[in-house]
Amino acid sequence: MKKLILASAFALTLSLCAYAQVTVSGDRVSVNTENNSLIINARVGQAPGFLHFGARLSDADADALRFAGSRSLNAYPVYGQGEVREEAMEVTHGDGNMSLDLVVEGVSTDSAKDADIACITLKDKVYDFWVKLYYKAFRDVDMIEAWTEIINGEKKPVLLRKFDSAFLPVRTGDVWVSHLYGTWANEGRLVEEPLQRGMLRIENKDGVRNSHTSHAEIMLSLDGKPSENTGAVIGAALCYSGNYHIDIITNDSDYHRIFAGICADNSTLTLAPGESFRTPELALTYSDEGLSGASRNFHRWARAHKVAHGDRERKILLNSWEGVYFNINEPGMDQMMADIASMGGELFVMDDGWFGDKYPRLNDTSSLGDWVVDKNKLPNGIQGLVDAADRHGISFGIWIEPEMANTVSELYEKHPDWIINAAGRDVVKGRGGSQVILDMGNPAVQDFVFGIVDGLMTKYPRINYIKWDANMTVGSHGSSYLPADRQSELYIRYHQGLAAVCDRIRAKYPDLTIQACASGGGRANYGILPWFDEFWVSDNTDALQRIYMQWGTSYFFPSITMASHISAVPNHTVYRVTPLKFRIDVAMSGRLGMELQPKDMTPEEIAQCKQAIADYKSVRPVVQFGDIYRLVSPYDNLGIASLMYCSRDKSEAVFYWWRIENFYDSHPPRVKMAGLDPDRMYRVEELDKAPGRPLSFEGRSFSGSFLMNVGLEMPSGFSRELMGYSSRVLHLIAE
Ligand code: DGJ
Repeated sequence: MKKLILASAFALTLSLCAYAQVTVSGDRVSVNTENNSLIINARVGQAPGFLHFGARLSDADADALRFAGSRSLNAYPVYGQGEVREEAMEVTHGDGNMSLDLVVEGVSTDSAKDADIACITLKDKVYDFWVKLYYKAFRDVDMIEAWTEIINGEKKPVLLRKFDSAFLPVRTGDVWVSHLYGTWANEGRLVEEPLQRGMLRIENKDGVRNSHTSHAEIMLSLDGKPSENTGAVIGAALCYSGNYHIDIITNDSDYHRIFAGICADNSTLTLAPGESFRTPELALTYSDEGLSGASRNFHRWARAHKVAHGDRERKILLNSWEGVYFNINEPGMDQMMADIASMGGELFVMDDGWFGDKYPRLNDTSSLGDWVVDKNKLPNGIQGLVDAADRHGISFGIWIEPEMANTVSELYEKHPDWIINAAGRDVVKGRGGSQVILDMGNPAVQDFVFGIVDGLMTKYPRINYIKWDANMTVGSHGSSYLPADRQSELYIRYHQGLAAVCDRIRAKYPDLTIQACASGGGRANYGILPWFDEFWVSDNTDALQRIYMQWGTSYFFPSITMASHISAVPNHTVYRVTPLKFRIDVAMSGRLGMELQPKDMTPEEIAQCKQAIADYKSVRPVVQFGDIYRLVSPYDNLGIASLMYCSRDKSEAVFYWWRIENFYDSHPPRVKMAGLDPDRMYRVEELDKAPGRPLSFEGRSFSGSFLMNVGLEMPSGFSRELMGYSSRVLHLIAE
């Protein structure tokens, strides 16, 4: 259903179910979910005015905004005519004019399967240049996606110098921002800071991956210092896999001015006459239940709309990387498959090192691009492994890095022009001293990359899982495919090409599970997840550091997306030694897997992992689809961290408690739970049981009210089990 409404005095409501609806009443456009409203004034002939984003307002209350003294800011400020502050769009018209003056031309509404959409069409007062502002409100989740479509109706090309997805003003006050920073092996670290005068720019210019050093998502706590389970919070996520920026500007205005979109630095875009460009979506949510409330909104939206197979349980897997690195061979893979199967695992993934003919992949210096099996390592090929997995009763997965090549490869010898590099300059090489990036903007490269997956899946249809890696940043700007006057489009074309390939893969292989890996956690973003089931959180599998990384990552991403593996000690990145139980208990809070050599484990350790896998299976639906409540933050330095997942109907919950510091005479707090039904009784059963005396509350029942207002005291004392990195996982079952 599509309707074009020239904003006028009548009201129209699009409402196909109880919640999402777009209402147009006079000049006012209200975009609503069950608990959120975004309201814009769209008077024809004037700039669009931003009135409200936050709690759901009834039509009467939305009307009252007019008399509440609320200021109306331009909902999409543009450069060059009257706007003196930062703006969302900058262009140069064909005649050299650098100004824009956009006013409302009309409003239309539309309804999709899962959402209602408002479109406010803006047109330049003089030029045939159009910008459509879209706002999509989901019916089943509190999330509104905002994006723009830019249309050049002029007779000459228009250069886009800045083209943000959306502008969001947030009333000043004691507003704090929570966002994620990091680097390789330390991804997803949380930082919380009050918004101060000046500009906070969160950006990424890697070119290929975009979530190592910063994340394209933020949360804003509107009532002062961020709190997990109380207070008003706005969450925003830019759904893009490439270079981005989120700017938060605080100056003499009453509003923090937030702009988010593709980072246009070295990345201008030319729109030929008649051409249009759609920006990535900025997803917005509001919750009055604190940061965890906003996270629950992100997680529900992600599982229902933004992650591949968001409703499908994730398998428990063993990945070969930390167990054998490049030392792949057939008996070794067979042994690992047998071992994970014997522990109750469901999938084995063969990582890097299985390919290359003329140049076998013995280490990271060669072979990317040559996706043929190394017959010396695997005489019976992939088929032999798929058959072995079948025999062991598990599924089989395989690692590829399809966007990349090594200069030492048959592919590079054949197609040196396929790589990204500035013309006439030395080839900039990455990992292994010879890695290069394929130019995904080139359709021939797109066919090649699609062909890698298609070739594997056609020959071995029983491959169940692909780990798709990407280990290089763009180090030299240049494409031999793009014409000279379009070189600045390299980054955008790259990600459009990647999206086109992913579309083709998903059209043909809708059931395949695909992990987004990018030197660890370089691809944790909502630009990539619609095609991918999960991401590798980090190459750092140290359980202690993972608590911090997974805590931050959980602000925006649900547990089904967070690949979280039990690894060996000393840890291969930080060399920390932690007890197996602690490693298991951390991994069990995400999508559980293993990343080690089982043959190096003792029979006791194998038995412990087997039991833990069985335990995880018993609570998998709660962990993977439940509502998150973060309870004690590792960033608060209280000696512990704790969180829980509750089933939507509150009939079950899984509670995690990790001791992260070990100081004599320290007194970590007793944790109060959250998210339970206060009036129901919950029986407590420990999972991944620690050896020794059972917990005093094992098998006993407590009311939800008691658990949330008083809580359970975790045992403490001075034994080997209770000091150090001790941990507990409790299953709560309503009676
Ligand atoms: C980087 C990934 O993050 C690792 O998990 C592993 O797959 C290696 N690449 C393989 O080269």
